[in-house]
Amino acid sequence: MEEWPDRLSDKLVSNLSRAASAVKKAKNAELITHIDADGITSGAISDITLDRLGIPHKIAFEKKITEETIERVNSSDADLIWISDLGSGYLSEFKRSNIVITDHHVPDPKFRRSQTSIDQFVEIFHLNPHNYGVNGSYEICGAGMTYLLSRTIDPNNIDLAYLGIIGAVGDFQDNRYSQLISYNRIVLDDAVKNGDISVDTDLRFFGRESRPLLQYLQYASDPEILGLTNNRDNCARFYSEMCIPLKDGEDTRVWDDLSPEEKIAVTDALLNKVSEPELRERMYGEVYSLPKFDPHTGLRDSKEFATILNSCGRYDDAETGLRICKGDLSALKDAERNRSDHRRNISLALSYVKENHLVRERRFIQYFDAGSEIRETVVGIVAGMLLNSDSVRHELPMIAFAESDDGVKVSARANRELTDRGLDLSFIMKKASELVGGYGGGHNVAAGATIPEDKKEAFLDIVEDLVSAQLI
Ligand code: C5P
Ligand code: C5P
Ligand code: ZN
Repeated sequence: MEEWPDRLSDKLVSNLSRAASAVKKAKNAELITHIDADGITSGAISDITLDRLGIPHKIAFEKKITEETIERVNSSDADLIWISDLGSGYLSEFKRSNIVITDHHVPDPKFRRSQTSIDQFVEIFHLNPHNYGVNGSYEICGAGMTYLLSRTIDPNNIDLAYLGIIGAVGDFQDNRYSQLISYNRIVLDDAVKNGDISVDTDLRFFGRESRPLLQYLQYASDPEILGLTNNRDNCARFYSEMCIPLKDGEDTRVWDDLSPEEKIAVTDALLNKVSEPELRERMYGEVYSLPKFDPHTGLRDSKEFATILNSCGRYDDAETGLRICKGDLSALKDAERNRSDHRRNISLALSYVKENHLVRERRFIQYFDAGSEIRETVVGIVAGMLLNSDSVRHELPMIAFAESDDGVKVSARANRELTDRGLDLSFIMKKASELVGGYGGGHNVAAGATIPEDKKEAFLDIVEDLVSAQLI
C-alpha cells in the first residue's frame, strides 16, 4: 500500500494559522455549510468553535452554491464568512474579503492555486487538501478540514475531532481502503486520543448497531453476498445453521450484540462465501465507534450516525442534525422520523428504478432519469447504491437525472477502477454542464451538476465524449 503522510504539510500549517488569526479577530460571522452529513458536521465544528470564542454568528445550510448564495456572500455585512464543505468550486465568484473556506471539493481552476489569495481587493483563506497534493475524495473531508482550523484556533477543540470522522465516513472516505488514511488518520488520532472514537476491525456492512441481525445480512450490499443478499429465508437458515440466535429473550439482536466468538464464526463463514480478494477487503476492515453513546441509539456507529445526519439534511431539516452534533439528544426523536422516511424513500427509489428498468446503457456511460419520482438530494445516493448492486454494470459511470427547482439535477458516480484509470467526474460534470449552460463539480468518483431541462440529451453526448477521452 502507498505511504501516506502522518503529519500536515508545513504550508498548510502556516495557512491554517493565518486563517485562525482572521477568525479570532472577527466581531461577528456568517457560516454557510452543506446539507449532507459532512456538511452538518463541518457546520457543527465551525458553530461550536465560534460559540467558544464568543463570536456572534448565524448558520445557513445550502444544497449547493447558487448565484443567490454568491450574491449573499458578496453583499453580506458580516465581518467574517466561513464556508465549509462547499465553496472551493466557486472561488473566482467571491468578491469580498475575509472569507474562510474549509472544503475538499476540487477547486475552481480559474482561481490561483496558491492557498491564500490576496488579489488586489479580495482576501480569501482557502483551505483545501487539493492545494497540498492531498486528495479530497479519500484523504480528508470537509469536516476534517474544518476541524484542522478549529484545533489551530484552540487546541482544546480536540473534542470536536470525532465530528471530522463522522463527516469522512458520511462521504464514504473510508471505502477505498476499508479504513481512513492520510489526513483523515490525523483527525482520527485526535478523536481516539480524546476518547471519543474507538477503532475496531469488523465486518463493514451497514447497520451493525440498529439493524436486526436478519436485515443486517439481507441488505448487505457492498459487496453483495451470493445467496444471502436480498434473500431473507437463506439468511435465517444461515444463522440457524451457525447456532446464532436472532433474539435475546424478547429483544431482537443486532450485529454488535454478538459475542466476539459469534462474530468471528459468522465473519469467517461470510468471507468464505466471497472468493475475490478485493471484495473480501471491502467487506472486512476498520469500523469507527462512538463509545460515549448508548448501544442501539444509532449514534454509536459512525456510519449510522452519519446516516441520521444525512436523513435530516437531505429532507430540509439540517438543523435537527446540527442539534444532535451539538449534544442535544432530544433532537434524536425528530431525527428518528427523518431516518425512517429516508430508509423508505431510498428503498422505494431503488425499486422504482429497477422495476421500471430505467437504466439505459450507452457505450461509455449508463444513466437513468428519475424525473420527479426521486428527490434531487437523494438521487446521488440512489445512483451510488445501484452501482454497487448486481443489477447494473459496474464498469460504466452512472449518471442520474432528477427534477429540481432550477432545472435538472445531475448526479454522477463511478467505481474506483475507473478513477484509477484517469476518470474525473468532477471535471466532466463541470465541463459538460457549462457547455449546456449549467454548472457543476465535486470529486473524481462522485460529482453533480444542474443543467437546463431541455439539455439532457446534449449533456449526455458531451459526458460520453469526455468519459471516453479520459479512459482511452
Ligand atoms: O459534497 P460532498 O463532498 O460532501 O459529497 C460527497 C458525496 O460523494 C457524498 O454524497 C458521498 O455519498 C459521495 N461519494 C460516493 N462514493 C465515494 C465517495 C463519495 O458516492 N467513493
Ligand atoms: O448531489 P450529489 O450527492 O450527487 O453530489 C455529489 C458531489 O458533487 C458532492 O460533493 C456535491 O457537493 C458535488 N456537486 C457540485 N455541484 C453541483 C452538484 C453537486 O459540486 N451542482
Ligand atoms: Zn464533503
